[in-house]
Amino acid sequence: MDKFLIEGGHSLKGEVKVKGAKNSALPILATTLLCEDEFTIENVPLLRDIFTIKKVLEVLGASVTLDGNKAIVDTRGAVGYEAPYELVKQMRASYYVLGPLLARVGRALVSLPGGCAIGTRPIDIHLRGLKKLKADISITHGYIDAYGNNLKGSHIFLEGQNGPSVGATINVMAAATLAKGVTVIEGAAMEPEVTDVANFLNKCGAKIKGQGTRSIEIRGVKKLHGCEYEIIPDRIEAGTLAVGAAISRGEIFLKGAKTEHLEEFISKLKEVGVDVFSEKDGFAVKMDKDIGSTDIETAPFPGFPTDMQAQFTALLCLSNGVSIVREKIFEERFMHVLELVRMGADIKRENDYVIIKGVPCLYGAKVMASDLRASAALVLAGLSASGTTEVGRIYHIDRGYENIEERLRNLGAHIWRQEE
Ligand code: UD1
Repeated sequence: MDKFLIEGGHSLKGEVKVKGAKNSALPILATTLLCEDEFTIENVPLLRDIFTIKKVLEVLGASVTLDGNKAIVDTRGAVGYEAPYELVKQMRASYYVLGPLLARVGRALVSLPGGCAIGTRPIDIHLRGLKKLKADISITHGYIDAYGNNLKGSHIFLEGQNGPSVGATINVMAAATLAKGVTVIEGAAMEPEVTDVANFLNKCGAKIKGQGTRSIEIRGVKKLHGCEYEIIPDRIEAGTLAVGAAISRGEIFLKGAKTEHLEEFISKLKEVGVDVFSEKDGFAVKMDKDIGSTDIETAPFPGFPTDMQAQFTALLCLSNGVSIVREKIFEERFMHVLELVRMGADIKRENDYVIIKGVPCLYGAKVMASDLRASAALVLAGLSASGTTEVGRIYHIDRGYENIEERLRNLGAHIWRQEE
């Protein structure tokens, strides 16, 4: 198992090009299964999760060739219907093949994803939506056992008790592209990644309207076809690097990043004293003041993203006041907190929120990554800490950030990967 060694105290400076969005690339690759054709998908980030969805597609009979950040996918010929536990347990998002398989082959056997470090993460909303399309679904021996030879359009209210679901919106939208008649998804997730998948499917011949709003209309078509498509930039990678610049008192330009995907996050950055300059092809982040305090509450898009909560918490550890961070999407998403405390942070957890009293500095320590964004938060903390930070179990960070240590090093960070 690899670990990162980070020598803190070096400001991030320079320009970095933001990679393609993981959370778009995964469902886009999965939804190629809806068609029997060839695809060229550009801007695919090279991540562990992408290698996992590639394996899932290959097990199902498709071929996926990665040429740099370009994926050539061929879904012609017969496809299977089983996504086995061995793959799904590596990555929950493997469930994105459920809707496409139901729509294309009328049958799907997809392992239940099981638990997750950031909370219980049920998939009831996915199943509720697909059942409304007249799929017949049961849970047997740890698998979602689904039949759906005659999917029919329906009016579906998809929201759950924590708000809309990104995954369920995409799964149901994908299945509905080939269902008979019109589907309307009310309470749809509005995340840019949902819009990206809808735009991709429309390029394949689907008839989807309203993506990016709470109500998506899908007019079923008989067949979809292959296409060339370029994935949007990863707003969470951009946000993570922006916090890296802020926490290390640096100045970076995030090439390709879109401010409109990060408005609430950027307004919080500005509130704590970070300068953000929007430019034609990205935005710049500069920090040369004391870090101010603020309160944050995570929310579905366009609110503050839960996927930026851990990283922003790391930043607020060094503020000159008291901040409250409330997690409203995944209540248990605080695994980074005790690790940050080991680095000298003053954080107290109360149910779904933490109270952070800013400290003047963090200290290098041995810490353990527990999930993707928590590990990013620890790396960011390490950039600013005095001395050396060792972050263990970094396979979590490899799930979502392409070659992060080299890209941080190019910006001036002192970070190395070492075999444990
Ligand atoms: C996606 C993202 C993840 C991000 C999350 C919220 C991918 C691969 N992952 O995850 O990085 O943190 O959106 O922006 O795109 N829920 C249910 N039942 C369900 C589905 C969800 O109760 O069937 C709940 C979840 O527990 C959570 C909330 O709904 O409280 C939102 O989750 P959801 O949007 O579905 O997250 P994912 O799609 O899994």
